[in-house]
Amino acid sequence: MSKKRILSGMQPSGKLHLGNYFGALKNWLNLQKDYECFYFIADWHALTSLYEEPGLIKQYVFEVAVDWLSSGLDPEKCVLFLQSKVPEHAELHLMLSMIVPVPWLERNPTYKEKQDEIKNVEMNSYGFLGYPVLQTADIILYKADYVPVGIDQAPHLELSREIVRRFNNLYKKKVFVEPGAKISDIPKLQGLDGRKMSKSYDNAIYLSDSEEEITQKVKSMLTDPQRARRNDPGEPNKCNLFPLHRLYSSPEMQEEIIPACRTAKIGCFDCKLKLIDSMLRGMRPIMERRREFAAKPREVQEILAEGSQRAQKVARATLEEAKAAMEL
Ligand code: TRP
Ligand code: SF4
Repeated sequence: MSKKRILSGMQPSGKLHLGNYFGALKNWLNLQKDYECFYFIADWHALTSLYEEPGLIKQYVFEVAVDWLSSGLDPEKCVLFLQSKVPEHAELHLMLSMIVPVPWLERNPTYKEKQDEIKNVEMNSYGFLGYPVLQTADIILYKADYVPVGIDQAPHLELSREIVRRFNNLYKKKVFVEPGAKISDIPKLQGLDGRKMSKSYDNAIYLSDSEEEITQKVKSMLTDPQRARRNDPGEPNKCNLFPLHRLYSSPEMQEEIIPACRTAKIGCFDCKLKLIDSMLRGMRPIMERRREFAAKPREVQEILAEGSQRAQKVARATLEEAKAAMEL
């Protein structure tokens, strides 16, 4: 039996932090074995917010690619590619844009949310309104069965399915496959200051941070605000550091810390030292692979170029089918 196909993408907005890793990349890694996976960097999508300084995108693409490879996405097991190297995405996007009613896009909740969230740049372009149409093209060119995404992307996936139905009905041919969402439950990861971990809040721990940076950052983390003094009991469930213990420390260590925190037997300083130890242990393999890839940037570019060629073969075949259905 052939494997089901997975496709997902990420916008290049710079180096990835632990929120990105546990929210998306970790899932992608797990899927590599059981599915035929296509993962791509959505550099055209990045233009929706970076159109004033598009020159940044190249560097971001490289950083994301190195983060992927260091984390263990394996070009032998999955297809890793760059959206703009497969122009079929743009061509299908144009074709779809002729059949997608504008109100479908105006209704899209992430359209409004992103506009409210991103304040430093005007987000009112034609391309931004059509963001989910390009995303649909990304997905359906590969006839992906499933798209692993966070819950915030669920409305986009629903829209993709509507667009697929509309195309297949209009042209009386089942060219495209309705993609299913594989919604990952994302562990809530707060940043150093207790707010959501985010590049724009400058509170993130990055996959590419050095051992020293990780040590410093963990030491600076806000813990349970109720523990003003060493003898005040704490509550791991109210501490924004403890979720990291859940991700990096052994269950035994977690079981030890929970009662010790609640009875003030352990102080936050010692708890942080334990976390630093667990995190460095967990992140060392990533750090080692990063050193290898950072030393050979050409190879990283070649992996993306080669992946893009493989992706393009699939994309081109689907695009031909779509054109035939439309009698173009
Ligand atoms: N919109 C996605 C995000 O911001 C990125 C993306 C673009 C994507 N095209 C995609 C995700 C296709 C899944 C499938 O995270
Ligand atoms: Fe958080 Fe650990 Fe301090 Fe408890 S002891 S409040 S879990 S840092």
